[in-house]
Amino acid sequence: MDVITDIPSLRRRLGRERSVAFVPTMGGLHAGHLSLVRIARQQAECVVASVFVNRLQFLPGEDFDRYPRTLGEDCRLLQEQGADVVFTPDEAGIYPVRQEFMLQPPPVAEALEGRFRPGFFRGVATVVLKLFNIVQPRVAVFGKKDYQQLHLMCELVRQLNLPIEIVGGETVRAPDGLALSSRNRYLNNDERMEAARLHRTLLWIRREIEAGGCDLDTLQRRAEDELNAHGWKTDYVAICRGDTLAPAAVDDESIIILAAAWLGSTRLIDNLEASY
Ligand code: PAF
Repeated sequence: MDVITDIPSLRRRLGRERSVAFVPTMGGLHAGHLSLVRIARQQAECVVASVFVNRLQFLPGEDFDRYPRTLGEDCRLLQEQGADVVFTPDEAGIYPVRQEFMLQPPPVAEALEGRFRPGFFRGVATVVLKLFNIVQPRVAVFGKKDYQQLHLMCELVRQLNLPIEIVGGETVRAPDGLALSSRNRYLNNDERMEAARLHRTLLWIRREIEAGGCDLDTLQRRAEDELNAHGWKTDYVAICRGDTLAPAAVDDESIIILAAAWLGSTRLIDNLEASY
């Protein structure tokens, strides 16, 4: 596996590849990321993963400084999964000058995560477009845990005519149901035990929906109340259409239940697909 830090060397290395599958990450890798690498492995001859903590997608006061930086361990795990190249640029490599050209995502980016993290998807879309230009993959793999991000990546390649296929990887969970996330390592022991409630709450909503249960607004409110009653500070619980992320109606076939909530100083997100 080649670990490459600069763009000219990466371009030279990839120049001889016929098809590249790409897994962009911010590092702090866990089994969820590794499952994306395994999907990428099935998609192309050459698998490239990037590790870059993208300042542009953090709001002032968010966890940019404390975001896990575990490059040595990340490279070891990527090598074990059979990645061919790890691209680990520094900030000057990706942002050689102040980034003034920014990609403006569609309005769906302002809902859900975007409502609580304004500018987040502008930062994500801008860095992903840069990474796509640098790596020029045929396929890129994103986790379904960041469901809204995956949705926007599909729109990005569609609306900008990029010749890249976006593939979604299933969320990987701990045995108690907690979705794996680099941010889980911020949780203390008590918070870690409590954290599984987020998934349990989504499962409860799904059961209610699939049983034809009460109206969706009531379900959202009861789920938020349940989390808040156990010490969470809920940003949102939202029941949306799987295809557009617009608020769902009772007869929508494909539904996605999404939630974001704070446990102490850690913000967790999760989602679950459901259908009537
Ligand atoms: O999902 C992530 O880790 C990041 O948002 C991404 C796609 C690597 C862009 O920085």
